[in-house]
Amino acid sequence: MSQQFRSVVRGVGKYVPENEVTNVELSKTIDTSDAWISERSGIRARRIAPRGMTTSFLAVEASKKALDDAGVSAKEIDLVIAATLSPDYFFPGIGSLLQHKLGMNPVGAFDIRQQCSGFVHGLAMADAFIRSGQARKILFCCAEIQTTIMDMTTRGRNMAVLFGDGAASIVLEGIPIASDAERPRADNTVRGVIDNITGGDGGGAENLVMRAPGTSSPDFINAADIEEGRRWPHMDGQTVFKNAIMRMTEVAETLLTRNGLKPADVSLMVPHQANLRISEMVRDKLGLPPEKVFNNIHKYGNTTAATVPLCLAEAVEEGRLKQGDLLLTVAFGAGFTWGANLVRW
Ligand code: COA
Repeated sequence: MSQQFRSVVRGVGKYVPENEVTNVELSKTIDTSDAWISERSGIRARRIAPRGMTTSFLAVEASKKALDDAGVSAKEIDLVIAATLSPDYFFPGIGSLLQHKLGMNPVGAFDIRQQCSGFVHGLAMADAFIRSGQARKILFCCAEIQTTIMDMTTRGRNMAVLFGDGAASIVLEGIPIASDAERPRADNTVRGVIDNITGGDGGGAENLVMRAPGTSSPDFINAADIEEGRRWPHMDGQTVFKNAIMRMTEVAETLLTRNGLKPADVSLMVPHQANLRISEMVRDKLGLPPEKVFNNIHKYGNTTAATVPLCLAEAVEEGRLKQGDLLLTVAFGAGFTWGANLVRW
């Protein structure tokens, strides 16, 4: 049998722009209020990148910290995965820019476009590369500057108040498995990714979508796309809300059950940070106490692909996620896409 590997998270790092904008400050330029935003979403502030700051800049800063935390040099990385819906360029993706800016060897570097499910899908992919022996040290970065792609005026307020900018990275290492006992499983204490589920239903695409630029526009993007608002994201908030609760609960339960676990066995759940009410409803449906769920949406809003690793970085900093803990991550996003990962941290 060929050599097998387990995927261990060696390091985590985050970077958020310094500029914090509270709900009160936002309501000076958008017809909204602190009460409307915080009661419906739990968000109190978000970070907004200065004009001209790029997503790859955030990605580089977060990745340097993750590499430092892992004690791994950029030259040791043999695969880069980046998750973003707000890249510097339409193409190439930020994975290539990250590889170059960090002075890495000419290794594979690709972007995935899984929106708010970027982390859970990307971790499943990174784990598959490691398990198959195709990569031994992966830099996986989730980064977004969304405040430039949103309509940050009253017209776009249903989305503008919910999103923020930020980045977080993890470094994964493939550790050779010598025997079956060294494989991470729910019933042992071996570190590594235990299991992943990725799900999707493209029937939900029109409920959370940015139509232009894209080939749905005859010119990819033209003046009418700009004038008629197709260059801004569109969201049917209530449909997204209901589907997020249903799919996140369902995928978490399926992943736990197929590994012989109950929610109570989990040390920490990190849900995607779209709305505190969504996280709390998923938590209630799973029957988890508040101390077993990590949220930081009040500080950053929804940073799309970056929410889960931003939580991981802060959970580690705060001592709420420690080596040996059983971690459940779960997310839902545009596509629709959803997924979950079970990790012995
Ligand atoms: N400030 C003040 N009023 C606002 C507003 C804002 N930022 N945005 C919308 N409104 C208004 C609407 O115009 C509407 O007014 P009307 O009743 O006069 O028409 C009213 O508030 C209610 O809007 P509605 O969209 O029904 O609110 P809601 O209770 O459904 O909450 C969301 C809206 C967006 C907070 C909620 O639907 C949600 O969180 N959805 C999921 C979003 C999500 O998770 N997205 C990312 C997925 S990964």
